[in-house]
Amino acid sequence: MTTVTPVQTPVRPGTPADAPGVPDDTVLSVRGLRKDFTLHTIDGRVVDALHGVDLDVRPGEHVALAGTSGAGKSTLLRCVYRTYLSGAGHIWFRTAGGELLDVAGLPDAEAADLRGQEIGYVSQFLRPQPRRSVISIVASAGVARGMDRTEARDAAAAALRQVAIAEHLWDMHATVLSGGQKQRVNIAAGTIAPPRLLLLDEPVSALDPANRAAVLDLIARLEETGTAVLSVFHDLDAIERLATRVVVLGGGRVLATGAPGDILRNPNLPLEVAR
Ligand SMILES: Nc1ncnc2c1ncn2[C@@H]1O[C@H](COP(=O)(O)OP(=O)(O)OP(=O)(O)O)[C@@H](O)[C@H]1O
Ligand SMILES: [Mg+2]
Repeated sequence: MTTVTPVQTPVRPGTPADAPGVPDDTVLSVRGLRKDFTLHTIDGRVVDALHGVDLDVRPGEHVALAGTSGAGKSTLLRCVYRTYLSGAGHIWFRTAGGELLDVAGLPDAEAADLRGQEIGYVSQFLRPQPRRSVISIVASAGVARGMDRTEARDAAAAALRQVAIAEHLWDMHATVLSGGQKQRVNIAAGTIAPPRLLLLDEPVSALDPANRAAVLDLIARLEETGTAVLSVFHDLDAIERLATRVVVLGGGRVLATGAPGDILRNPNLPLEVAR
């Protein structure tokens, strides 16, 4: 099995003085972001995943990332969520209180707090902790966003109903759910209270058409509440329906950015979406 450097030393935390080009209305402003992986089992080979990415997302905006497999889409989302530490650059996040923080250099504990309070992340797979019930996973996300326990349990019930998880499943361990059920529990946890920034990495890939439509509706409604969304969908319909802007990644850089209609119909861009 391939092993990678577990963590790198965080880059120096940026201060707002390092952010002269950052517009004052963005939730997220990524600047010069770089990330590489060192493969220790393959002669220390270095994979250059992100090579200087700049990107802005504003409240209520839905920016969809496109690009071929391996372009760095998931890596970018993970750097923003701080599952990966970036190698260089800044990830400016403007909090609900108006503070500008560089997620790339925040101490781990502060990054974890910020994540819990203001950032939702829904990936393709839910890897539930063992022996946690479905409802407690979703309610914990509500507690992290500042709800008290009763409020969080009620909100979790509402969120689970919205994604059509039947009530008899709520007390079951999430590990025994099907792939599509796990994905919907993950969506309920990511959206329990509208986060300021929602990161979506192929969130409907395991869903049947009816559940897929319900989840896309839920995402569309969140944008109306001002949530900023940065997403990856391998599905042209979802991008056309939800995205306000598409950013194409290739070779670890931004190759193009524009309105979904213009970008998705451009035959010269290396897109990889289901048509
Ligand atoms: N944990 C890791 N260890 C080593 N290399 C990695 C790791 N994560 C990503 N990479 C490499 O970084 C590059 C970008 O991968 P990433 O998963 O971000 O691509 P992607 O655009 O999300 O692709 P896909 O559309 O297939 O999901 C790839 O070359 C990948 O092999
Ligand atoms: Mg990916």
